[in-house]
Amino acid sequence: TPGPADGAALLSWYDRHRRALPWRVVEGRADPYRVWLSEIMLQQTTVAAVIPYFERFTRRWPTVVDLAGAEDGDVMAAWAGLGYYARARNLLACARAVAARGAFPTTREGLRALPGVGDYTSAAIAAIAFGETAVVVDGNVERVVARLLALPVPPKSARREVEASVAAMLTERAGDFAQAMMDLGATICTPRNPVCALCPIAEPCAARTEGEPTRYPVKAEK
Ligand code: ADE
Repeated sequence: TPGPADGAALLSWYDRHRRALPWRVVEGRADPYRVWLSEIMLQQTTVAAVIPYFERFTRRWPTVVDLAGAEDGDVMAAWAGLGYYARARNLLACARAVAARGAFPTTREGLRALPGVGDYTSAAIAAIAFGETAVVVDGNVERVVARLLALPVPPKSARREVEASVAAMLTERAGDFAQAMMDLGATICTPRNPVCALCPIAEPCAARTEGEPTRYPVKAEK
């Protein structure tokens, strides 16, 4: 099973290959507003599609207070094309709640209480913006871990095991670690044709050892 040394190898890979995305910072801590906005936009939308929207939003509304003061119609119009319009309504409700309380909550629990912020998003913001040692599991991470463990069941039905495996690797730099797992899933441990030769955690990966990594994650029986 993967452990702390594999987390260190993953972080070292991330330091060399991280994608330059507009909500990431090179040094220091990310801006909670930009992290929150990017995570909401990235729910069910690809990184490539989100980037121009993110740039437009942050140019027009540089802070959460600016966004909170926007007209509903202007925000809905700026969101047009991203889909899932409930996200845009929650976005405004959340911006106004944050502006009213003065700042983003700084813990996963506090974040979880905001409109539109669920288990995944609260963990991601807590880790990336506030350095909380939160375990962040999205679809990409599920696939990576399903392969690492050669998980014999669908990852959604082995939630505890998946989280425990991520937690065993996570000892420092929680925000970078979370995004390293996402980048690994997006660029190396892809659904089809994973590039195990370039993977920083190929050594402990049970699916690679078995020889056919794309057998994982296994699907739920119909
Ligand atoms: N998908 C969701 N959040 C992400 C992030 N912070 N970086 C890259 N991909 C993501």
